[in-house]
Amino acid sequence: YKRITTRSLIEMKANGEKISMLTAYDFTMARIVDAAGVDVILVGDSASNVMAGHETTLPITLDQMIYHASSVVRAANRALVVVDLPFGSYQSDPKEALRSSIRIMKESGGHAVKLEGGSEIKDSIKKILNAGIPVMGHLGLTPQSIYKFGTYTVRAKEEAEAEKLIEDAKMLERVGCFAVVLEKIPAQLAQKVAESISIPVIGIGAGGGVDGQVLVIHDMLGMNNEFSPRFLRRYMNLYEGMTTAISQYSQDVKSKDFPNANESY
Ligand code: KIV
Ligand code: NA
Repeated sequence: YKRITTRSLIEMKANGEKISMLTAYDFTMARIVDAAGVDVILVGDSASNVMAGHETTLPITLDQMIYHASSVVRAANRALVVVDLPFGSYQSDPKEALRSSIRIMKESGGHAVKLEGGSEIKDSIKKILNAGIPVMGHLGLTPQSIYKFGTYTVRAKEEAEAEKLIEDAKMLERVGCFAVVLEKIPAQLAQKVAESISIPVIGIGAGGGVDGQVLVIHDMLGMNNEFSPRFLRRYMNLYEGMTTAISQYSQDVKSKDFPNANESY
């Protein structure tokens, strides 16, 4: 395969080809996602929820993100691997943001970093970009700020917040980000942003008028019965499938059906 680069993503937008992105946090899952032809693998800090069982993304550490990212990088032959900077690893000042980004690039081998926020973190983004590290922005619903907002509801429905979001997206393009994620905002606003900038806009709960889509892989495979936002399309019911398989295995052990003679040495 030809490796996907930040440049190929920008070309895809220019050619009107939509970009597919999914999360992965471990080698085996990332192997499948990569081989299936997904363009970008996001090592999201959603690992905090999905892998570690925390209620928010705040507790996951930089070391833990590097562990997940290094496993994903070993699996990805074609996809671009983007790694989230976790909460607390970039908000203090631009030097901390650069230090954390360098650790991700050196220790995991990831290809780019993603940070949540707009004008507040402009200097940090510039500092990281100046070191030659590609940056993906993330605007709209930014889960690391959950305690500021209190809910995970749709963002930028009000005029003032929508205006700031458009300005932030333009700023991210201007300073040199290669793409931006828009999470849970009105489809019309997301389309307007996508039409206002030349770098790809990847949406999650942001409608079809953007340049690509991202989902959390455990959600789209239906491994999680409790999380059902409107934007989620489930492509499998792995929760049911796995439960059936695992309970069958347990019964087979107890009934002495497994292992049989053919399965023994
Ligand atoms: O951490 C994550 O999975 C994300 C995506 C939902 C965009 O940031
Ligand atoms: Na994230």
